[in-house]
Amino acid sequence: MIPSLALAALLPALAAAIPCIQFDADDNLYAFGGDEDVALGTSDAWASPSPKQLSTDGRPPWNGNFSQCLLSRNANALYVLGADASDAGAIYIYDFAGNAWTKQATTGGSDALQNSRSSAILDHNTNVIFTVGSSSMYTLDFGSVTATAAGSLAWGVASTPKFASEGYKVTAAAASNHINYFGVPGSEAGSTDMFIVHYNAWQPQPAKYTAVGGNNFPAQSGQAVSLATANSTLPPYQMLFVPNDLSSSFIVTHYTADWSWNDTTRAPMAVSLVNSTQELPAPTAKDTEASYACSETHCVQMDTQGNIYYINAVGADYTVTPGAKWDKMSYKLTPYVAPTPTGTNPSGSATGSGGASASNPAASPAGSSSGARTSLNSGILGAVLGVAALAIATIA
Ligand SMILES: *[C@@H]1O[C@H](CO)[C@@H](O)[C@H](O)[C@H]1NC(C)=O
Ligand SMILES: *[C@@H]1O[C@H](CO)[C@@H](O)[C@H](O)[C@H]1NC(C)=O
Ligand SMILES: *[C@@H]1O[C@H](CO)[C@@H](O)[C@H](O)[C@H]1NC(C)=O
Ligand SMILES: *[C@@H]1O[C@H](CO)[C@@H](O)[C@H](O)[C@H]1NC(C)=O
Repeated sequence: MIPSLALAALLPALAAAIPCIQFDADDNLYAFGGDEDVALGTSDAWASPSPKQLSTDGRPPWNGNFSQCLLSRNANALYVLGADASDAGAIYIYDFAGNAWTKQATTGGSDALQNSRSSAILDHNTNVIFTVGSSSMYTLDFGSVTATAAGSLAWGVASTPKFASEGYKVTAAAASNHINYFGVPGSEAGSTDMFIVHYNAWQPQPAKYTAVGGNNFPAQSGQAVSLATANSTLPPYQMLFVPNDLSSSFIVTHYTADWSWNDTTRAPMAVSLVNSTQELPAPTAKDTEASYACSETHCVQMDTQGNIYYINAVGADYTVTPGAKWDKMSYKLTPYVAPTPTGTNPSGSATGSGGASASNPAASPAGSSSGARTSLNSGILGAVLGVAALAIATIA
């Protein structure tokens, strides 16, 4: 028998991919980064889903620790950040309509994408990505890119917020064209630090949210995503926030008119919901690295093991659905064992070219599905996997 310590020593060479979940512009749900990437349909299909496998050609290697899947509703495209450990600046684009992956090269921001699974947002109106890394806030203008990679784009430094260098696990989501930062060091419960996208400026005072029929959100980092707005020409107004202690979840609603800080006459929700917090049940999976996505009405959690949970979070009137609960989907995304370039390729010379290995199904480790790909030497990885499998079998 191999002692468990020996197994522990083997584990760093293997890394379960960190999968992520997202919708397309038509509210179809997708799960990415498992043994396969799949389409799961709209919410009415989730009780008995019929997963459809997506193209594997040129998909990300899914070996980054903080992969984030952002939806561009205007382009009907997915932008995957932080999913390629050998090319930290790469952004993989999935064109929902064309079922095709391309890889966008970027410069000047590789260390910007290494903070958390909620560090980046995509501005609805401009298609600009904002992210906060270990020292600065960076932006990348995807206005010209839409659904297919083109040329190379340069990240720019937008700002150097103090919290960026305070060990803050960035927890950002956009609402009403403002970026909310939850759980910034020193912040209070029910408040966020706020960046005003269209003025490229920080709001001097924290944004304050009033609890409506429940608790307000705690002053913690966690994860946050926007809910879509039914009228897709309008930006998101609501956010799902899940604090790190996973004790609850919250729908946070922000509205500010473009023309006035206090005019709520054209707010799409009741005035009592402007700048409010509504509480939802705690997510089922107690996994701080789970992935989240929301349509106009539903929010979905997928944990790092690929289990998927969904909740009918809000109605068309922006209020949380009474009695809403998280349900488990019968489909589970099979975890994909991603290669770690640092463990098996100390020279760090992985090519990172998604296209080359995508066309080589022989590179799939340990006979897993054709969706599993690697840019590393398949012999070395296969051997490592084999030894680990042996160790696991011996312990079991
Ligand atoms: C991911 O995290 C693991 C464990 O902390 C670490 O060993 C590895 O280097 C990280 N990978 C990247 C790409 O940062
Ligand atoms: C809503 O919050 C924003 C951001 O803090 C603030 O500028 C705005 O005045 C608030 N609106 C109302 C009606 O209080
Ligand atoms: C969507 O919002 C835009 C901008 O406010 C408005 O012009 C348009 O009429 C709205 N569309 C619908 C279907 O309500
Ligand atoms: C907004 O604030 C200004 C200045 O305090 C005030 O004159 C105005 O009536 C307010 N507007 C609304 C819609 O509350």
